[in-house]
Amino acid sequence: MLNQLFRTKSLNVILRDSEEPQHQLKRTLGVFDLLMLGIGAIIGTGIFAVVGTAAAGGADHLGAGPGVMVSFLITAIACAFCALCYAEFASMVPISGSAYTYSYATLGELIAWIIGWDLIIEYAIGNVAVAISWAAYFHQLFDGMGVHIPAWISVDYRSAVQAASAVAIDGAPNPSNSLAYEAFLNHPTFLGIPIVFNFLAFTIVAFVTWILVIGVKESARVNNLMVILKIVILFFFIGVGAMYVKPENWSPFFPNGLTGVWTGASLIFFAFIGFDAISTAAEECKNPAKDMPRGILWSLFICTLIYVATAAVLTGIIPWNQLGVADPLAAALSYLQLDWAAGIVSFGAVVAMTAVLLVFQLGQPRIFFAMSRDGLLPKVFAKVHPKYKTPHVTTIWTGVAVAVFSSFANLNEIVELTNIGTLFAFMLVCLGVLILRKKDPNRHRSFKTPWVPLVPLLGIGMCLYLMLGLPWVTWVRFGVWLLIGIAVYFFYGFRHSKQKATA
Ligand code: ALA
Repeated sequence: MLNQLFRTKSLNVILRDSEEPQHQLKRTLGVFDLLMLGIGAIIGTGIFAVVGTAAAGGADHLGAGPGVMVSFLITAIACAFCALCYAEFASMVPISGSAYTYSYATLGELIAWIIGWDLIIEYAIGNVAVAISWAAYFHQLFDGMGVHIPAWISVDYRSAVQAASAVAIDGAPNPSNSLAYEAFLNHPTFLGIPIVFNFLAFTIVAFVTWILVIGVKESARVNNLMVILKIVILFFFIGVGAMYVKPENWSPFFPNGLTGVWTGASLIFFAFIGFDAISTAAEECKNPAKDMPRGILWSLFICTLIYVATAAVLTGIIPWNQLGVADPLAAALSYLQLDWAAGIVSFGAVVAMTAVLLVFQLGQPRIFFAMSRDGLLPKVFAKVHPKYKTPHVTTIWTGVAVAVFSSFANLNEIVELTNIGTLFAFMLVCLGVLILRKKDPNRHRSFKTPWVPLVPLLGIGMCLYLMLGLPWVTWVRFGVWLLIGIAVYFFYGFRHSKQKATA
């Protein structure tokens, strides 16, 4: 039994599977395309929404304050170490499936399963967070245009109740909970049961799912357009906001000391999730050896610069403790009474987040597909629609789960869960590089992670550091998720694995 649990799928078999003519992908992507792909997946809820909580803190107000700029830098360094490890794997195993495939080759079936299960957190649960903040910005966008969408279909019930209890203490709603408080005050009831649910978040996920089922031709041009729009909107925010910065807002720079910066970094990690999506395109890359690491590192670098500048302006124009809102960038401009500018930023945020939703909702079925091909999930997960040629079963399952969750989940809790799950996956990728260097030192690596074992060890250490900055209740939730995954594995995957059949 132990043999099977730790049985690895040989890299030769993985590569051979992908080389079958019917599975061959065209090698068309250059470094610019990879860069666009990366930035497309990276910029979204993190910079448009989570940055507010990272700066202001949650209910405890123990945020990083202006020090959130440092939180961004810490997280970027952690991601850079992991990115170098991803790049080695991507150039060596240039096939889709990402961390799941890498770990199947190095750490064995059980760990590969755990990673695949864990990636559901990154992709599907991550999208729950994106949908929730999409709803907040969408609400704000229409509000700015004079169309008031009822608050009770724009937030979750728990946020409404939390807002009410905060108001009971503070005496009046503050910007951070005014929408949720409005939902608390004004909502319909059914048989005495209050109706407050995030219908907006539900709807956008349903819409994205529908688009993906009927099949969008993945168009690099549309993606490039959206990426450029995101960057332009953030530059617009930086440019307009810079004129209103009051340096006294940056003082104190670390209102909650290094603890605030640390927990801020653990949260803001969400803003960087997505660079790993580049590695899934390795099979379509013209020159993965050179372009893969360049694409990954450049997209990280560019996003870091934009993020730090945005954070500097954001905390310079509004006191940091007022940033705990779902739409902090727009709220900051409204604070300056620049409602027109807030409208433009809200529009950009809605577009940016729709793009992220699409990328991640597209990625999840690919991972299920890889797991199903290996026999770890039922065959139906790899079913392709006869007319649309899309993996409609997994796309719809993912869509339904994400839509339902996003209608009642709380943004911060979901961000924390996504972060712990993704950090764990990154850690295992770093570990995989170390193991494979020992186990298979002579295999051709078109890109080699520099300074092994230092870089992978630093990657592991920093991921752990960021994980430890998350609340214990997130660890418990993550533990429960993994336990359920292990149970599913023993119930199904262990018995149906193709590796077992070939053993
Ligand atoms: N990095 C992505 C975002 O911030 C997940 O939306």
